[in-house]
Amino acid sequence: MSRVLTGIQSSGKPHLGNLLGAILPAIELAEKQSEPAYLFIADLHALTVIRDAETLRENTYAVAATWLAAGLDPEKHVFFRQSDVPEVCELAWYLGCLTPYPMLANAHSFKEKSGHLAEVSAGLFTYPVLMAADILLYQTDLVPVGKDQKQHLEITRDIAGAFNRAYGEVFKLPEGIYREEVMILPGIDGRKMSKSYGNTLDPLGDLNELYKRVKRIVTDAKPLDAPKDPENCTIFKLYSVVAPPEAVENMRERYLSGGYGYGQAKEALYEALVQRFSAEREAYHRWISDKPALEAILQKGAEKARAEAHKTLSRVRQKVGVQGALSSIFS
Ligand code: TYM
Repeated sequence: MSRVLTGIQSSGKPHLGNLLGAILPAIELAEKQSEPAYLFIADLHALTVIRDAETLRENTYAVAATWLAAGLDPEKHVFFRQSDVPEVCELAWYLGCLTPYPMLANAHSFKEKSGHLAEVSAGLFTYPVLMAADILLYQTDLVPVGKDQKQHLEITRDIAGAFNRAYGEVFKLPEGIYREEVMILPGIDGRKMSKSYGNTLDPLGDLNELYKRVKRIVTDAKPLDAPKDPENCTIFKLYSVVAPPEAVENMRERYLSGGYGYGQAKEALYEALVQRFSAEREAYHRWISDKPALEAILQKGAEKARAEAHKTLSRVRQKVGVQGALSSIFS
């Protein structure tokens, strides 16, 4: 029996990378287990970038609608909003007190994000500690994530080990699950697809917008006649994860033989995105237009998550000494 957990930040509407790199593989892995998975919307993490309440709420519903449109069954699994379980913040504090400063200062994602910001917040710095708390609070076994989160998983394991050594065994050491065939998807400018780079494709949103963005994918300047290198082309990389295998082979051959232009490849990619996600797009629109239904599902999920969170947190409180040794007599 393995408990699966993963989260998606609500710093924007989920994009193709989130869907293929995390949401769909997480649901698939969750369905293979005999116990409920913990799948959530990391809205507290999104506060490291979002400064507007309405935007955060809207993004949070958009992430919720995406999870459900992708096939998450909220009756079977524990589906919740991170901030509805405030216990996670308390655990993050205890963990932070055991986290070496250099481990956070040297984290790749902190260095990368802080490198292009005018102001760097303490929240951004301690982001991996809150993520460790998300994972450890629910005694997670498996964490399906994209490869960009590997270091965060290593930090989580280090923190769990440090706590267990200092106070005795409380936390399970979680394992990151990175699917080899799912790469870090490039965005339309060729860098990692990321909300913070503004280079995303949203296959569940407005199709005109999707078409325009596919048309903006950056390529080299080879003329139509010239043979092209599929392995170094963003259009081909994206096509290869959304189109059926025979269609991908066909495009590869056309690239290699020449006489096939990037404009044609972009049309093919757009069509593949429309087809691959048509059921999810329809479901997304149904969910996003029924916020009361989304809210009711999230509230129910939060109740289940909090019950589980309490079990771990009361053990942690005892261990660190903030709860009196006799407190159970009075509760
Ligand atoms: P976030 O919201 O940045 O990304 C959510 C998931 O999507 C994956 N991902 C990608 N996969 C492939 N190609 C891409 N271009 C791409 N961009 C993003 C990420 O690897 C991730 O799996 N810190 C997490 C959120 C989080 C979390 C957690 C995850 C908070 N607490 C606890 C797991 C467990 C994050 O940055 O997500």
